[in-house]
Order: sequence, then structure tokens, then C-alpha cells
Amino acid sequence: MNKIICENYDKMSKMAAQIVSDQIKSKPDSVLGLATGSTPIGMYKELVRMFQAGELDFAKVITFNLDEYYRIEKNNQQSYHYFMNEHLFKHININPENTHIPDGNTESVEKECKNYDNMIKKAGGIDLQVLGLGINGHIGFNEPDSELIAYTHLTPLKQKTIQANSRFFNSIDEVPKHAITMGMANILQAKKILLLISGKNKAEIAHKIFNGKITTNIPASFLQLHPDTTVIMDREAAEYIEF
Ligand code: GLP
Repeated sequence: MNKIICENYDKMSKMAAQIVSDQIKSKPDSVLGLATGSTPIGMYKELVRMFQAGELDFAKVITFNLDEYYRIEKNNQQSYHYFMNEHLFKHININPENTHIPDGNTESVEKECKNYDNMIKKAGGIDLQVLGLGINGHIGFNEPDSELIAYTHLTPLKQKTIQANSRFFNSIDEVPKHAITMGMANILQAKKILLLISGKNKAEIAHKIFNGKITTNIPASFLQLHPDTTVIMDREAAEYIEF
């Protein structure tokens, strides 16, 4: 794992956007795996700036988001569909048909998950997967458990995740209790992975994913198995990291 520590969130975001931009420039029809949450917002802002400055072209880019709440309507302001549109898609020249997010309101979860995996496969797999980190070590919505699931699936959310994500909702009762998420194999099969970790509240878990042990209790620890993962942290998140 290539670990980079940046002075602050802004520098982390700019460095992450540069990596995404380099990927798109080297392969204009790149398949990007995208994440939501507050961590990548600064990166999306910088990518929008690059596009508006004429430095970046998304015309051929294909995207697959990691996850979506279940059940949630696409136009619900807390949905990841809404998030991606607000923070990235509506500001750039991406073809909406090339953007993919699991349907959190599907009548047939099994079909939706299989179809999602097939679409990723058909697109040639993910070239660069962007990840945030849950406070409990989850990636996407692959929650800590005695076993992890390889491909796209419906998962119950852990109380810690519901609690952490309740800050975006009016009340904790409104947070969906389930999500559809890419599985661990979907993520680990990406050619490159970019993990972003920001803030004091991630320092403890950030330290645990780099300690040489791999455990299903910390899904992000599996990233240690991936041959091309870059982790960018801000100083606060990197407090306990040793080199
Ligand atoms: C959410 C998402 C994850 C994200 C994580 C961290 O639950 N499913 O993909 O990485 O939480 O979010 P944040 O960046 O807001 O801390």
C-alpha cells in the first residue's frame, strides 16, 4: 500500500482529484468506481473545477457507484443518486447512460445485484476504485461481520453505521436499515484503488487497517491484499500511523 499523508483535507482532496484526472487522461474511457460520504466531496469539487477549466473531459468515462441505501427513492435528498448528481454528475459532461448506481428502490434485489455485477463485467471491470472508510472499517457498505460477501448484495447496516450516517437525516429513525453494495470481490478486482481517509474520528480505524492483520471484522483490512492501492490521509486521520 502506498500511503500518503497530506497536511489537510483540501490538499488530500486535490491530490485525489489529480489521481482521478491522470487516470482519465491516460484512458479517456476509464471505468471509475465512485464513493459517497463526506470524505470525497472535496475531490468531486476539484474534479468539477478541472472540468470547468477545460482540463478534463468526462465524455467517455463510465462510472459505477459502490452502494445505495435500501429502500430509498432516487429523488430523495439522502439517496446516493441525489448525492452524485449534486456533487458531480450535473456539473460535468458525463453521459448519464454511463453512470451506474444500484437501484435502492428495486422490486427485485437479486436481479438488481446480478445485473450490477454483469454491467461491471461488461464494462471491462473497474480501472480505478475510489473508497472512503466507515468509522467501523467498512468499505462501500461491506460491514464488519464473521464473513464478508464477494459480489453485489443487500446488507443490513450496523448500528454504528446508522448512527454515523444519521447526521445527514432529520432523525436516526429515517436512516434506511439496509443498503445494496458492491461486495469485497467487486472492490478488490479493481485495477487500482484509491482510499481516502479524513478526520480525527477515523484515526483509530485508519491505524488498524494497516497493521498487517486481515480480518472480516475490519473489511478495509483486506485492502492490504491489493497490489495497487494508494491511501491518502489528512494529518488528523494519520495520527497513529507508523512508518
Ligand atoms: C458511508 C458509505 C461509505 C463511506 C462511509 C464513510 O456509509 N457507504 O462508502 O465511505 O460511509 O463516510 P464519510 O466519508 O462521510 O465518513
